[in-house]
Amino acid sequence: NHTPRVFSGIKPSGGLTLGNYLGAIKRFVDMQAQDFETVYCVVDLHAITVWQDPKELTDATREVAAGFLAAGIDPSQSILFNQSQVPAHAELAWLFNCVARVGWMNRMTQFKDKAGKNAEQSSLGLYAYPSLMAADILLYHATHVPVGEDQKQHVELTRDIAAKFNHDFKAEGFFPQPEPIIEGPATRVMNLRDGTKKMSKSGESDMERINMTDDADKIAKKFKKAKTDPEPLPETLEGLKDRPEAKNLVDIYAGLSGLTNEQVITEYAGAGWGRFKPALADLAVEKLAPISEEMSRLMNDKAEIDRILGEGADKAEAIAQPILDRAYDITGF
Ligand code: ADP
Ligand code: NA
Repeated sequence: NHTPRVFSGIKPSGGLTLGNYLGAIKRFVDMQAQDFETVYCVVDLHAITVWQDPKELTDATREVAAGFLAAGIDPSQSILFNQSQVPAHAELAWLFNCVARVGWMNRMTQFKDKAGKNAEQSSLGLYAYPSLMAADILLYHATHVPVGEDQKQHVELTRDIAAKFNHDFKAEGFFPQPEPIIEGPATRVMNLRDGTKKMSKSGESDMERINMTDDADKIAKKFKKAKTDPEPLPETLEGLKDRPEAKNLVDIYAGLSGLTNEQVITEYAGAGWGRFKPALADLAVEKLAPISEEMSRLMNDKAEIDRILGEGADKAEAIAQPILDRAYDITGF
């Protein structure tokens, strides 16, 4: 009987990639236009789970906000804010640290990927990250969480935390069970030099990823050098099985164009890379150039970004604080 609420976030931990755009931001814009209340957050508390240069953090936060705005998030239709400005996130995360189990965290594949062989030297925050993410979502009683595939396990853990909190404190139904929304042709964009690794802001080399701020030359050069097998594109989707690099480029084309993967294959059946890669580069430039131009215009008006984030934080807090107060109350404070 009330409008379902969407929550999602992006870390200010390096430049936004095409993966963030297709897997997250573009879909945030789509959901804003539908019958949802939409709450989007620059999750700076998550960013510092790995070291961030303090001199760069504020601008990195503004740049993610600029990416949201340039791609079409409208502050009069969505709440857009910065996590650290709403202290309720950190506070609810602590309550959840006392609800979540160590064994649950041990199963998180993203921690294993990010910590690598160096788990002992990782921050405790990186380990507890999913508990803060659960707080982000549940503070708004959000029901829908649009994310890329890599975040599915964290949203599932959020459901477990909600259920255990409700159960342990006899508060049945207090926290809802949010659904991960993982849709579209490009929910897992892979890096361009190694089709088995996801494209990431914090990847090793700039040539592996398309940044939302890359200019036309860079985009063309990166796609030209993207690793592929030597075969032309297949006649049907089936033919992309066991061809991760080819599948990735088709997914990216579909995500950018709004076509399905099947329609892309039909259009380019039998095409060689000499034809497909330049077409893909042109499409990426056409879609990304207006966004990156608007991002740099916004970055020249930092006061305006700060004003938007400040107003967003007030609106976010108005929803979050009563839910946090109720959670404290339920816990016995
Ligand atoms: P990153 O992994 O680039 O640091 P975040 O962890 O801040 O990005 O993720 C922000 C959002 O972008 C999440 O919803 C995540 O699932 C999505 N995302 C990140 N990388 C990709 C990718 N390569 N393909 C699809 N979605 C992605
Ligand atoms: Na809406």
